Amino acid sequence: MKKVLVTGGLGYIGSHTVVVLQQAGYEVYIIDDLSNTQISVLDKIQEITTIKPNFTQLDLKDAPLVKEYFKGHKFDGVIHFAASKAVGESVLEPLKYYENNINTLVNVLSNMQEQNLSNFIFSSSCTVYGQADELPITESAPIKTAESPYGNTKQIGEEIIRETCQAKELKSIALRYFNPIGAHESAKIGELPLGVPQNLIPFVCQTAAGIRKELSVFGSDYPTPDGTAIRDYIHVVDLAKAHLAALERLLANKNESKFELFNLGTGKGSSVLEIIQRFESVNDLKLNYKIVERRAGDITSAYADTNKANKVLGWEAEESLDSALKSAWDWQKNQ
Ligand code: WQD
Repeated sequence: MKKVLVTGGLGYIGSHTVVVLQQAGYEVYIIDDLSNTQISVLDKIQEITTIKPNFTQLDLKDAPLVKEYFKGHKFDGVIHFAASKAVGESVLEPLKYYENNINTLVNVLSNMQEQNLSNFIFSSSCTVYGQADELPITESAPIKTAESPYGNTKQIGEEIIRETCQAKELKSIALRYFNPIGAHESAKIGELPLGVPQNLIPFVCQTAAGIRKELSVFGSDYPTPDGTAIRDYIHVVDLAKAHLAALERLLANKNESKFELFNLGTGKGSSVLEIIQRFESVNDLKLNYKIVERRAGDITSAYADTNKANKVLGWEAEESLDSALKSAWDWQKNQ
């Protein structure tokens, strides 16, 4: 069996990717520092796949421990999710984000280099585009000055990988996610926002569950059809499958260059009010919300041009928005 290391593998997208990898026959090793998830996710993965992943709790900032860990394993591929990802928090704590998102990346890459491991998949984000000049957004859209330290760590991360691929035996694929939402159909794994959710769908779900009093819609004066901001919401299971496609592309040496980038979205934009309306309709409930001021740093509209992922990576999103919103609510009810 081919061995794959998934850092941050007990996190939201990481855990869904572990399930897909195990079901595709890979032997999965997880490193997670448990800073933004719970150990119970490991058992839930096993409940879904009947296979318990190899798990090590490890802080990837600890270079000597990381070195020790990599000495013991020969991985066919590494998928790197481990990072802090709260945009707002990154503005308040820039150094935490540069330390946790950059140092960990450098530690993983330098140990891969030392162990002659060459296949690396990086969790990037559409946030690198800022407010794109043209929609839908292609991979050749210009990179804008990051609006947050979080977004900057993704831009810097991509550059570190690009330059390492140019200089060393590394080949890599960076996946720029649009807005991941939803949960596994079993409702055993999903988005576990610890504290007050920053992202829309977890807040919608907690409002529907009565945990939050009401949802604040951040702005209704955007230049969009209904005045609320537009995003490309993609089912997390579709996202997980894209990581399998990227891994198999590298393992089969099908990559056309040593560093490839793919946008992962549905190609369809939905406004906040559309999301609320669809969530209410597909889950047969009424959501308590109010319109408030825009959130600083938010962009008006972003949705992916999916041609490159469809034609080159050979992957496309298959789940509908309704199924994503239903799965998010099923997961919330299972909390
Ligand atoms: C979506 C829309 C909000 C909450 C961020 C990161 C991105 C990725 C996903 C990590 C926006 C509106 C939200 C709420 C609202 N994260 N909203 N009320 O900001 O598009 O992307 O999260 O990789 O990198 O930038 O996602 O879910 O926070 O917001 O009205 O309580 O919902 O204004 O229009 P965003 P989001």
